[in-house]
Amino acid sequence: MDTQAYSTWLEVDLGAIKNNIKEIKKMTGTQVMAVIKANGYGHGVLKVAKAAEEAGADWCGVARMEEALNLRESGISTEIMVLGYTPPVLTLEAIRHHIHVAIYDTQMARAYSAHAKKASEPLKAHLKVETGMGRLGMEMDLVPDFMSEYASTEFVDIDGIFTHFARADEPHAGLTGQQLSRFNSLINDLRQADLCPEMIHAANSAAVLNYPEAYFDMVRPGIAIFGLDPSPESKLPGSFRPALTWKARLTSVRRLPPGHGVSYGSIYVTSEEERIGVIPVGYGDGYRRVPGQRVLLHGKLVDVVGRVCMDQCMLQLDDVPDAAPGDEVVLLGKQGEEEITVDDLAARWSTINYEVVCGLADRLPRLYFET
Ligand SMILES: Cc1ncc(COP(=O)(O)O)c(C=O)c1O
Repeated sequence: MDTQAYSTWLEVDLGAIKNNIKEIKKMTGTQVMAVIKANGYGHGVLKVAKAAEEAGADWCGVARMEEALNLRESGISTEIMVLGYTPPVLTLEAIRHHIHVAIYDTQMARAYSAHAKKASEPLKAHLKVETGMGRLGMEMDLVPDFMSEYASTEFVDIDGIFTHFARADEPHAGLTGQQLSRFNSLINDLRQADLCPEMIHAANSAAVLNYPEAYFDMVRPGIAIFGLDPSPESKLPGSFRPALTWKARLTSVRRLPPGHGVSYGSIYVTSEEERIGVIPVGYGDGYRRVPGQRVLLHGKLVDVVGRVCMDQCMLQLDDVPDAAPGDEVVLLGKQGEEEITVDDLAARWSTINYEVVCGLADRLPRLYFET
């Protein structure tokens, strides 16, 4: 991989993504919807979508219609579903590009239907049901009447039904069992009334790991595709591989005299003569402006000192006497025997691994390879 033209970049292993999707297919034996919203969890959605398609993902799931259209316009031919809200004015676009929408509200369904009358085909939709997440979803008691109304409507074809778990990553919490039993009882009622849509789905990555009884016809993993654990309590098996490395080049190495401030606010002051390096990474790239960070250089963990700026931050290089401008620094990933994981960054930043990868800025070049 030729990285000479870059000062900081992400390396994404599409082989890891394909491997992880194949592992999920093997585990579940169901169809897989690769959930690749938010720029493929920061990994770069188009390459990720292509890799997912090649690995046998049957569907791609996104949050918004713009994301779905981007996939279609880039030649992705799997089924595509918008899991979040789709403005009714986009109904014809959805139909034209064979994109499924999520319906979770009767009024909304009427608005879609009114637009879909102008098309020669129906809008395809999956009905989202509230079972305990408290986000989007039709109340369960409304579903049978709704399905019966739409069974005879030619403008909207509801060919799937789904729900979403709030605590599948906490196997001892109990809520997932309750959500599942509510969902199952609704499915049974719909089946008895011959109103059940063809396709049933519920499981996110954590449920893929913890709840085989939630597999139904399709699973909807996101974070697991990228080889990242849904939570510290729900870890992926060793056969999954993380896909992401974040690197930068040392752009300056200087000796600063004792008592010299480093970066905005001079919150770090050299105590003696110190070697201070600079890397061209900052909060404008999604690297947080928090103290106590470390990166890898020459296989060693070195401290980030002073405030992280928008585009740069400074390193204390006294333990790496040979460090020179141009040397490769790893912010995320392995170097020699050491590793900084996405979960390490999440712990430093008091957040979850999902937010770390979704926060990686668009301006970071993403370089792809396949192992
Ligand atoms: C409806 C829905 N299904 C599936 C997923 C994938 O979740 P995860 O990344 O935890 O696998 C998400 C992500 O938030 C979602 O909103």
